[in-house]
Amino acid sequence: MTLTVGTPAAPAGDAILRRQRIRESAARTYARSFPIVPVRANGMTVEGADGRRYLDCLSGAGTLALGHNHPVVLEAIRRTLDSGAPLHLLDLATAEKDDFTTALLASLPERFAARARIHFCGPAGTDAVEAALKLMQTATGRRGALAFTGAYHGMTAGALAVTGNTAVKAPLPSGGEVTRLPYPYAYRCPFGVGGERGAELAAAYTERLLDDPSGGVLPPAAMILEPVQGEGGVVPAPDGWLREMRRITAERGIPLILDEVQTGVGRTGRMWAVEHSGIEPDAMVLSKAIGGSLPLAVVVYREEYDGWQPGAHTGTFRGNTLAMAAGAATLRHVAANGLVARAETVGARITARLDGARDRLPVIGDVRGRGLMLGVELVDPAGEPDSCGARPADPRLAVRVREACLARGLIVELGGRHDAVLRLLPPLTITDEQADAVLERLCDAIEFAMRQPEEGK
Ligand SMILES: Cc1ncc(COP(=O)(O)O)c(C=O)c1O
Repeated sequence: MTLTVGTPAAPAGDAILRRQRIRESAARTYARSFPIVPVRANGMTVEGADGRRYLDCLSGAGTLALGHNHPVVLEAIRRTLDSGAPLHLLDLATAEKDDFTTALLASLPERFAARARIHFCGPAGTDAVEAALKLMQTATGRRGALAFTGAYHGMTAGALAVTGNTAVKAPLPSGGEVTRLPYPYAYRCPFGVGGERGAELAAAYTERLLDDPSGGVLPPAAMILEPVQGEGGVVPAPDGWLREMRRITAERGIPLILDEVQTGVGRTGRMWAVEHSGIEPDAMVLSKAIGGSLPLAVVVYREEYDGWQPGAHTGTFRGNTLAMAAGAATLRHVAANGLVARAETVGARITARLDGARDRLPVIGDVRGRGLMLGVELVDPAGEPDSCGARPADPRLAVRVREACLARGLIVELGGRHDAVLRLLPPLTITDEQADAVLERLCDAIEFAMRQPEEGK
């Protein structure tokens, strides 16, 4: 008799999906967009329980820099498991954490890293954002924050508000006022002018508002921004505007926090997106790819801000040994194998091809992004253009395109102000053949979805 060891029989996908619909919350998200049951994954390919294979352009919302189950990551995890190292360690010192810290600091801009401290957070980007804001509140003795239109930084704003322990809230309660500032979004310019002029006006508005004694803005604890907005619709900040934000905040003693949760680890064609502009932030919030597909989040900041008391930002899951081993291996592999430059090259190629398809696919309003963080904004070509020439976003078409992509074996998620931006976040290991297949399936899906309403009548 032959025994099959290890792999359970292929799960019945439909039954699993049915149970998920009944048992899990109404807030489930990706599960609604992609009703598939992945059973195996390798690199960019995900195989469903139904035996269908998909090219994954979501990559765990930008987490999987090396794709699924990369051999280097698996080897690091196996080595750690075989070593007998404890898997959970709060924030105790371990060889794995020491090695991860070395790899992370070596990957960061040299001047910043030379004077940096690192704090290990609960293993989600949102906790590192909370930590960074709290750190700057402690350091400045102020409460408010400057944040931008279209920003996405996580989901936990209320946690500290309902916590009773004043020691961890000390010295000031978290969650001051947020002043919302215009992020330079050339295609749908907040000033209705677009291009570089729009970014100049956004910077001028920020500076004048902060200096206006009747502007209603108290001196804030920090400014927080994404160098490329991801969930906001893949909107890259112009380098000049970012340098202006650095100047404006530095001149007014406002710490600048860069949220690189999604843009880090080669994603934008630089190891860290901050390198495009060359500015030096006061803190960087990092998560997603730094854990090599396992949960890990940190805030790295200039040492002069380290005014915290012991335990000021604690959490149970801050010592995930496997994530640190997988993360260190990922950081080193990305740096040593030219994957950062590759992200820039392949990203430019995909952008050029999508730009070239616009005559044939007039619903493509804008193609933008940096490296392998790309967005395609879908519009109604019959709609009235605004003062910058942008036509109305078409979220219903975007949903049809996402479905048509899935039917063609391509996983692409939506984002943006109107949920009308197709977001491409393939792994940095994407091959030329895979990039061609993505483009072919995507363009075919857009063409199909464009015609769909007429055909459906
Ligand atoms: C820029 C940015 N910051 C913070 C977060 C929150 O990270 P998490 O979902 O791990 O809490 C995200 C998540 O997508 C993000 O894109």
